[in-house]
Amino acid sequence: MSVQGDGGGNAAKSGYPKVYVKVPASTANLGPGFDALGMALNLYEWIEMGIADRTEIRVYGEQMVGVPTDKSNLIYKVAQLLFDKAGVSHPELDIAMYSDIPLTRGLGSSATAIVGALVAANALIGNKLSSHELFQIASALEKHPDNVGASLFGGLIAAFWDGERAEHIRIVPEDRLDVLVAIPRFELATEKARNVLPVSVTMKDAVFNIGHSSLLVAAFCTGRYDMIRHAMKDALHQPYRAPLIPGMTDILEQAQQHGALGAALSGAGPTLLALVDGKEGRGAELEAFLQGTLARHGIEADTMWLKPCADGAVVLTHFDPNVSLLDNVKGRARV
Ligand code: HSE
Repeated sequence: MSVQGDGGGNAAKSGYPKVYVKVPASTANLGPGFDALGMALNLYEWIEMGIADRTEIRVYGEQMVGVPTDKSNLIYKVAQLLFDKAGVSHPELDIAMYSDIPLTRGLGSSATAIVGALVAANALIGNKLSSHELFQIASALEKHPDNVGASLFGGLIAAFWDGERAEHIRIVPEDRLDVLVAIPRFELATEKARNVLPVSVTMKDAVFNIGHSSLLVAAFCTGRYDMIRHAMKDALHQPYRAPLIPGMTDILEQAQQHGALGAALSGAGPTLLALVDGKEGRGAELEAFLQGTLARHGIEADTMWLKPCADGAVVLTHFDPNVSLLDNVKGRARV
């Protein structure tokens, strides 16, 4: 096993090609679509994978600090799971990974890793499994289909996972949709943010979310972005999670007054997300509002302007196997 570093040399077995996969981050829920809506974002993780004589795992980039480089690595384990399902055995793998996605902030980093591992491992064995089968495996691993569906298929997905089966439909948001995220400089484990949720909810709250989530999906399907401000409201998870993210309630209640179409907690948080109509030109005001509100509550945060990503995980064919993944990603590959 090896650690973060620059070397591109590895033990990939001759006769087997290396594969490269690029996977988008995602935001889940979009307010009312708890465990049902996910949208891919143009922030990425890259994975290199090859069949080897001995396992070597390299991690690059500050987002990967602390990620295991032995066989407990999530990407290694998910690849082995895929091989099991496909009935093949490749216990030794050469893996490298680089990511721009902050970990445990509500931008789907674990879903990205799961999807990337499945797509890479499947590509290595000649795509024996369909993307629908990959979606089943990924949803079962995550226990919800929203982040994995968005990272696998791209766009905005409406999905369910009922414990046995996952299904989805993908919508591609219009180009004018911008996404502003405020990423607090603290981590919040999904498990912790799920543990604060009640075991049961009232019929009133369930009906509230069905109506709002349905309207939100219809708004995206029809381009009725004027409806987002009514639709992006939630009674099932955000009220319970608000105490974990100081400033969140003010942002959700007031973001529209500062130019947002709507605002939500991104996935399980702590990142907050605002949807913006790029034509409206009030981005600077909204960014200052998000930063200022979090700062007033003692929270340091980094803001980032993103776009929905129409494509899901893709296998890249133009990377150079003779240089490191980092050099490939940064465009420093020799031609
Ligand atoms: N739908 C999930 C949640 C997303 O809100 O807990 C977690 O990434």
